[in-house]
Amino acid sequence: MESHETTTMSHPLSSTPSLDRKTSSSNAPASELNEQRYREAFSKACRCIGTQLRQFEDELGSQLVSDNDQIDRVLKYVARLGGKRLRPALTFLTSELFGPSTEETMRLAMVVELVHTATLVHDDVLDASGIRRHQPTVHVRWDVPTSILIGDWLFTHAYGLANAGESTLPGRWIASAAKRVCEGEIRQNQTIGNWELTQEEYFDILSCKTGALCGASCAMGAWSTQAPSSRCDALQSFGNKLGLAFQIFDDWLDIWGDQAPSGKTLGTDFEHDKPTLPWIYLLGSLSSLDRQAWFELYNSNPQQAKSELSARLKQSDASAYTLGCAKGFAQSACEDLRRAVSSLDLSDHQTQVLRALEEITKASVARAG
Ligand code: IPE
Ligand code: IPE
Ligand code: MG
Ligand code: MG
Repeated sequence: MESHETTTMSHPLSSTPSLDRKTSSSNAPASELNEQRYREAFSKACRCIGTQLRQFEDELGSQLVSDNDQIDRVLKYVARLGGKRLRPALTFLTSELFGPSTEETMRLAMVVELVHTATLVHDDVLDASGIRRHQPTVHVRWDVPTSILIGDWLFTHAYGLANAGESTLPGRWIASAAKRVCEGEIRQNQTIGNWELTQEEYFDILSCKTGALCGASCAMGAWSTQAPSSRCDALQSFGNKLGLAFQIFDDWLDIWGDQAPSGKTLGTDFEHDKPTLPWIYLLGSLSSLDRQAWFELYNSNPQQAKSELSARLKQSDASAYTLGCAKGFAQSACEDLRRAVSSLDLSDHQTQVLRALEEITKASVARAG
């Protein structure tokens, strides 16, 4: 596992029809402002779990170690990359709705972040993405075999941690969620070039690849402080919808986001012929004649067909439609959240936690990275 020290990466859009992506240099102040605003909204919402999140960083660092120097170096690199910590924040906040978070909550927060990180390391190989969390991806910094095996290491470590308590429930919960994530990624991979994908199929794939882990993060958080199972179920549904909304917005960012504040390679969905909501909506809004003509062109000359579709995208309301869908799922998530705490007599702290969850949900569909 020797480092190749690769530092140059070609932009994924370089071989793709232009979408007029904003570049970091052209509007750096605006992007930084957006990034700043999102981070501020997130950290403000998470203030009530600040102690837990700080302790979480230390504990996570202490999990990512190996006796082998080369493996240890990769794990330290992965740990250093950080991230928004959305899923552990969900675990801590949902736990605090029912009582003070416990050691079990901390362990489960690490489990969800480790699984999430494993999926990202693998996803960057699948998407041939060069940048993640503002740094070269593991497969660029090292190589593909290292990425696959470090991803496996992270998954396996997470399952060990999930099973370190008395109950077998967290182990079963995370295994089921991780399996759904893999199924979502497999199914998305199978949609490549299938521009006839329906919105329902697309939403279902996103519920698997992103919703499932956010749902498990919430259900396990609440479970760790003895929430009744009906409330855990409502929070799982909340997390699922939040994850779905988050991923729709992420697919929006892949087209219209700024590369610099997102800290990751954008534009890979369209480049790799992955149909996401804006394209599905756009194709669905064409007349049947135009649609048929477009599919014929795509079969004979995919690059030209994609250029044409990009041009149409700029004239369409696909961006507004996509954002509207993300916001709709976020709103529905908030309704599940209210249901999860219905008829509870909340303390000031619990009310603050509830607000934080609502704020995070709103911020997830209006973020820069
Ligand atoms: C990235 O997740 C993958 C998606 C589900 C869109 P995050 O945006 O939560 O990634 P980090 O953890 O902050 O890097
Ligand atoms: C992220 O999917 C991977 C999972 C949700 C498992 P994407 O490929 O859409 O996310 P980014 O854009 O690389 O973060
Ligand atoms: Mg990706
Ligand atoms: Mg994406």
